[in-house]
Amino acid sequence: MAHPDHALWKEGWRANQTPFHLTYVHPLLMRFWAQMGVDKAEGVFVPLCGKSLDVMWLHDQGHQVVGVELSPIAVKALFKAAHLRPQRENYGDLIRWNHRQLTIFCGDFFAMTKADMLAVQVVYDRAALTALPENMREYYVAHLHAILPAECQILLLTVEDLDDEDTASDYMTQSTEISALYSEYFSIELLHAEYHEACMDELGQETAARCVHKAYRLQSMGQ
Ligand SMILES: C[S@@+](CC[C@H](N)C(=O)[O-])C[C@H]1O[C@@H](n2cnc3c(N)ncnc32)[C@H](O)[C@@H]1O
Repeated sequence: MAHPDHALWKEGWRANQTPFHLTYVHPLLMRFWAQMGVDKAEGVFVPLCGKSLDVMWLHDQGHQVVGVELSPIAVKALFKAAHLRPQRENYGDLIRWNHRQLTIFCGDFFAMTKADMLAVQVVYDRAALTALPENMREYYVAHLHAILPAECQILLLTVEDLDDEDTASDYMTQSTEISALYSEYFSIELLHAEYHEACMDELGQETAARCVHKAYRLQSMGQ
């Protein structure tokens, strides 16, 4: 049975309410991808990919890219922005959109299997783990680990909002939530943490909280 959040995400896409979508390639992806030491021949998985421009950036680096996204509106927009005309086919509970080195499965991430990941050695996660409700994140990590090949790594980007009483320096280390979620399966290296001031609109209303952006490199410890 579909999770109730699925309808909310799909409705957001229908109503063009996608504030998470960036109109540029994520700067931390461009900055830290080389540090992952990934060969062009290695395939990249982008879970909960939306219509992120990061997908095409990875594709343009020469990687085979596999994504998964609930909304067909997002998948269509991703291919359209890239001027690619994909082939579509039913694929179990998913719909597989494919154009040469780019495959996006439209449907639920939890419907993906090991067979869909055969070409994948690296995962790029921006706003996938953190898009899920906290009580789903453990299942997300366990499922990701279950479907990935034994040898793989993840570039994980997160954003942690600060409460009023928090100081930025308290947030510059590895998050306890990330350790709790991943350390059973992956070694964890915090590559980078950067503090961002709150954003205000012209009326002085806060549009984004103070936060810390982090980049992690996770290396699988086998099955
Ligand atoms: C916060 S957005 C991030 C999108 C993208 N990673 C980016 O950086 O723009 C989360 C995306 O995940 C999709 N999504 C949510 N739950 C999903 C699921 N169970 N399976 C596949 N996609 C899902 C939503 O439709 C939405 O596009």
